[in-house]
Parts: sequence; structure tokens; C-alpha cells
Amino acid sequence: MELARRIMPFWLSICFLFIHGVQGAEQGEIEMELIGNETYQCQYASFSGRFPNSRIPVRVFASVNHHSHSHHSHSSHVHDTVLVWVEDISTSRFKTCVVTGGQEFGADYSIHWFAFQGAQSGVQHGQARYGLFTTGTKCTRVVFAPAFSTVPYIQTTVQHGTVDKRKDAMDVWIESLSKTEFEVCLRESRTFDGPHSNLSVNWMAYEQFLPSPWKAKTFSKILFSKYEIPSAQENYALCKTINFTAPFYMPPKVLVTAAKFLNNTSSRITVEKGPLSCWAEEIERTFIEVCVKDYAGIDGRRDDLEVNYVAFGKNDI
Ligand SMILES: *[C@@H]1O[C@H](CO)[C@@H](O)[C@H](O)[C@H]1NC(C)=O
Ligand SMILES: *[C@@H]1O[C@H](CO)[C@@H](O)[C@H](O)[C@H]1NC(C)=O
Ligand SMILES: *[C@@H]1O[C@H](CO)[C@@H](O)[C@H](O)[C@H]1NC(C)=O
Ligand SMILES: *[C@@H]1O[C@H](CO)[C@@H](O)[C@H](O)[C@H]1NC(C)=O
Ligand SMILES: *[C@@H]1O[C@H](CO)[C@@H](O)[C@H](O)[C@H]1NC(C)=O
Repeated sequence: MELARRIMPFWLSICFLFIHGVQGAEQGEIEMELIGNETYQCQYASFSGRFPNSRIPVRVFASVNHHSHSHHSHSSHVHDTVLVWVEDISTSRFKTCVVTGGQEFGADYSIHWFAFQGAQSGVQHGQARYGLFTTGTKCTRVVFAPAFSTVPYIQTTVQHGTVDKRKDAMDVWIESLSKTEFEVCLRESRTFDGPHSNLSVNWMAYEQFLPSPWKAKTFSKILFSKYEIPSAQENYALCKTINFTAPFYMPPKVLVTAAKFLNNTSSRITVEKGPLSCWAEEIERTFIEVCVKDYAGIDGRRDDLEVNYVAFGKNDI
């Protein structure tokens, strides 16, 4: 009896060692600080433990959030496009890289990320792959199995199979999203800087509910109508501020993805394909500001588009 009492804590701690791993999903934030004229940076982030199965891929998603409350803040100035991707993913860590599009000097970004492994209830997810391509835009069609009963919410992130390939920085967006399928498109950051190979896109789609271990408090779509016109004050981006229905305890982690949807068959033929780019300009406890840039610029013909977002965190009580 006495002996049992003495060795019990030992056995408990052993058990704890064995079962300690990632439960459900993980989320986090990576701070990137680009100094002087740097336009490229990568950083590793670790999961809190290991995902259990080394043979099942860990899906990682990442989005760019421009730091509005940092000391380097550029007041109310809307930022340039930043391309983000993930690579070198294992069950315990992954790497995120950013390439900035504009010419601004020195900038802070925080990358919000989200990761899970294996089947997730109510969520379809996968990886769209791209063969070799040498220029411009490349799209891959994905069919949902089974189809959704309404047009789902969607998130995407580029994954590089080959590490340290800055020239494979890609813009990613969704074309022709419907209940049954979508196209996910990539566009090179500089024209003719190819060839590009070994690229894929992680995607996830969901309808009404997200698994409760995800701690996703809210998700929605923000509509940008085809009649909106970007302004110089917003650095020629289209931006919208959305209030959360309930305030968060701390600013949430947010993923964003831009999508064009397929309302009817005629639009499939007339519509031009991208590029579209979106990011979170500001994230606070009570609201987010999301911006998009599209191919139409200030004088082109624009289509209706949506930014899908999902916010992870705890609500205020
Ligand atoms: C970036 O800055 C470094 C020194 O700070 C300079 O040597 C280099 O030429 C600069 N590169 C470009 C592309 O301006
Ligand atoms: C493509 O990516 C895989 C890992 O995802 C890697 O093993 C392989 O070497 C890459 N191929 C090339 C040509 O870089
Ligand atoms: C969001 O909330 C602020 C302050 O509570 C309010 O002034 C603003 O009109 C709201 N915006 C929208 C789009 O509801
Ligand atoms: C097209 O579909 C989107 C989303 O499914 C919807 O928000 C939008 O109002 C629709 N537009 C028209 C013209 O029906
Ligand atoms: C749907 O098609 C009709 C014509 O067939 C067109 O007038 C309308 O603008 C289209 N709607 C969208 C959202 O593309």
C-alpha cells in the first residue's frame, strides 16, 4: 500500500508523457519583422505537442495580419499585398514564409495559423496539386464529395513541396465556388519568373458548424460588390470593417480567403480569372478590417466577390 502510494505519481507522470500530444486543432501567431529593404522572410513555429500519426498529413493554414497596434505602425495607411505560404511540415512543427509585394521599407506582419490532422466532423478538406507551370495563372478544379447543401465557407493556403524557393511565392484565390465544386488558382508573383513545380494548396470547406475543439467562435463571408471602386486613401485596395456579433476576450486569430462564386452558368464564360488577394488589415476584440485587391484595379470590370473569414479565440464573459 505504502509502496503503491509512492510509485503512483511516477506512473502518472509516465502516462502523461505518453498521452501528451496535440488534441484536436492548434492555432497560433508568428511575428515577422522585415528590416530595411528585406522583402522575404521565413520562420518555424512549433505545435504544443506532436500530432499523433506520422503518416497522416498535418494541414496547416496561414493568413497575414498587418499589425495595427505595433510601434512601427504606419497610422491609417493601408498596406501592400503580402504573399504567404507554408512548407516543411512535420507532426511537431512547420515553416511559414512571406514575400512582400510593395516597396515599403521595414514592416511588421503577424501570421495567424491553424493546424489539424485527419478527419474533422462537418469539414471537407484536402490538398489541390499543381503540375509544372511556367507562367501566369494556373487553376485546379476540386469537386466536393458529397456536395454541400448550400455554398460552403472556404479557406486555402499555399504549401511548397520544395523548401526555400522564394520565386514560387504565389497569390492564391478561389474561382467559381458552388455547392458542388470550386477552382483554386495560383498566380506567380512576378511574370515569367518560373518554372514553378511541386506546389499545392491546402483547402477546407464547411457549412454551418465547425468542430468544437477548434475553438472557432465565428465565421462568415464579407461581400464586396462589383460596383465598389478602390480609392487612393486605401492604397487602391477595397477594405471593409465588420463588427463581431460578440466581442472577443483578446483579438482573435483570423484566417481569410478571397473567393468568386458561381451564381449562374453564364458567368463561368465571361468572367476573367483573378488574381485576387486579401488580408486582414486590422484585428481587434470587437471588429476586423479586411482588404482585397483584384485584377480590375480602378478602371477594369469587376465581379462580385467575397472574403471568407474564420475567427478563433475566446469570447468576453
Ligand atoms: C538592401 O540594403 C543593403 C544595405 O542595407 C544594400 O547593400 C543592398 O544593396 C540593398 N538592396 C537593394 C536591392 O536595394
Ligand atoms: C517535391 O516535394 C517533395 C516533398 O513534398 C520533395 O521530397 C521533393 O524532393 C520535391 N521535388 C523537387 C523536384 O523539388
Ligand atoms: C460597428 O460598431 C461601431 C461602434 O460600436 C459602430 O459605430 C459601427 O457603425 C458598427 N459598424 C457596423 C458595420 O455595424
Ligand atoms: C450570388 O451568390 C452569392 C453567394 O452565394 C450571393 O451572396 C449573391 O447575392 C449572389 N448574387 C446574385 C446576383 O444572385
Ligand atoms: C446571371 O445570368 C444572367 C443572364 O443569363 C445575367 O444577366 C446575370 O448578370 C448573371 N448573374 C451573375 C451574378 O453573374
